[in-house]
Amino acid sequence: MWLNRDVISILDFNKEELLDLFSKAKLIESLKENNLKNLKGKILTTAFFEPSTRTRLSFQAAMLKLGGSTLDLGEPSISSLAKGENISDTIRMLDYYSDIIVIRHKLEGVSRYAAEICEHPVINAGEGTKEHPTQTMIDLYEVWKTFKSLENLTYAIIGDIKHARTISSLILSFSIFKPRKVYLVSPLELRAKEKIRSFMEFNGILYEELTTFSEVLEEADVFYVTRIQKERFSDPYEYEKVKGSYIITLEHIKRMKEGAIILHPLPRVDELSPKVDSSKNAAYFSQARGGLYLRMALLRAILTGE
Ligand code: CP
Repeated sequence: MWLNRDVISILDFNKEELLDLFSKAKLIESLKENNLKNLKGKILTTAFFEPSTRTRLSFQAAMLKLGGSTLDLGEPSISSLAKGENISDTIRMLDYYSDIIVIRHKLEGVSRYAAEICEHPVINAGEGTKEHPTQTMIDLYEVWKTFKSLENLTYAIIGDIKHARTISSLILSFSIFKPRKVYLVSPLELRAKEKIRSFMEFNGILYEELTTFSEVLEEADVFYVTRIQKERFSDPYEYEKVKGSYIITLEHIKRMKEGAIILHPLPRVDELSPKVDSSKNAAYFSQARGGLYLRMALLRAILTGE
């Protein structure tokens, strides 16, 4: 089911495969002692052309915990990219040295292209504003653990819907696990792109676009909060107009229904007050922690089939 698979889009996987992955991750998470070392001798290479803390380091940590080793391409300034080598030749070299390659790039299509030219599996670790499939696996894993199901839930997705690739991928996953309803809450300037709205309509996903979240505080099961992505704005003035649009505070938490959870792919800027961190609704650190186990399960499944 998983052996030698590339991970380019969340849509490359079906319900059965994703539920299988979540079960594997939960099993690993439940182990008191990690004695899974069956990736000994395997090498994972990370090649990140955009900044990252969680994705890059959790993939590396997952590989090390499974007994494997890691390489990192590093900043373009320290590789031969600085001498003018093209990315295609660079990726071919990574393929010669590695058993699996994890790539983040600002350009859409780079990871799909890498998968085509590489013998070894390639994982898309985030591509421009388009997709971040393993983040979606992590998001769904947290929801699945909390609600024991991924169907028929109400989501309030809040923030930079236009630019956040985590949101795009999550919305794509709603064609696999159907929600009851999705509220897309953003400033008008940061509404979902036309192709995302068309996708939801084509797949019969009920959604509503809002500019404030107040009216859905009592209704949503999952609040998926994202930062406004300053780095995606070509005009700093446009960013200044929308920054700080949404901040979740303890006052909002009081109105949420029992059992509702707040997710955030992180990093956060100011959209979640730190006072919210200790509330029982705050699931974003558990979500990030679960990312390690999800990525362990994913690497193990791709490299061993187990
Ligand atoms: N969630 C996420 O992709 O975080 P990083 O950018 O730190 O990897």
